[in-house]
Amino acid sequence: MYIILFNLLSWVTFFVFLFVLYLLILWMWGNMTAKVPFVGVPSKVLHEIEKALDINDDSVVYDLGCGDGKVLFYLYKKNPKATYIGIENSSFPTILAKTRNWWHKKFNTSKIEIIKKDFFEVDLSNATHIFTYLYPSLMDDLLPKLDKELKSGTKLVSASFHFTTKKEIKEIDLKRGRYQLTNKIYVYEF
Ligand SMILES: C[S@@+](CC[C@H](N)C(=O)[O-])C[C@H]1O[C@@H](n2cnc3c(N)ncnc32)[C@H](O)[C@@H]1O
Repeated sequence: MYIILFNLLSWVTFFVFLFVLYLLILWMWGNMTAKVPFVGVPSKVLHEIEKALDINDDSVVYDLGCGDGKVLFYLYKKNPKATYIGIENSSFPTILAKTRNWWHKKFNTSKIEIIKKDFFEVDLSNATHIFTYLYPSLMDDLLPKLDKELKSGTKLVSASFHFTTKKEIKEIDLKRGRYQLTNKIYVYEF
């Protein structure tokens, strides 16, 4: 009996180890191949992001490159009636975001959707609000698509990085330490 239990436990440990190894490889591979690595926005700036977005019940909010969904889940807590869509093309953060959403939906009537896709291939015409935490070059690559697809009045809030050819309507200095991530938030209107 003890031998069977021991064998079973060994197999379970082995499969857990393989699964963790698989996640680790996905995470490393994603960060090596992505134009922007998966780095979550600091928790301390979430409140400022929420304030800058100024979401209402009818808002349709996209996080382009949503990572593990941290921003969307925070925004949902503050305004559960809005619609939230996270687009992510890297496998590891998508697994985290989808698992989190699956768990979340067990206890909430959540309107959060996580889509594994390149955001350049997603139609954004129904967005009212967009959040980004990307790189400056990627922001500039994205601008023609946003200009073409977004309806007039759509608000975009970017953590840390700004467009080089579009003027923000607001630049918010978060007064964080020099070596801390996300010192500024840029607000744009299309
Ligand atoms: C710096 S992380 C930000 C994560 C999340 N928005 C946050 O603030 O916590 C940027 C994410 O964008 C994703 N990403 C980069 N380019 C993408 C693309 N073309 N389509 C979808 N996701 C992309 C990366 O995989 C990464 O997870």
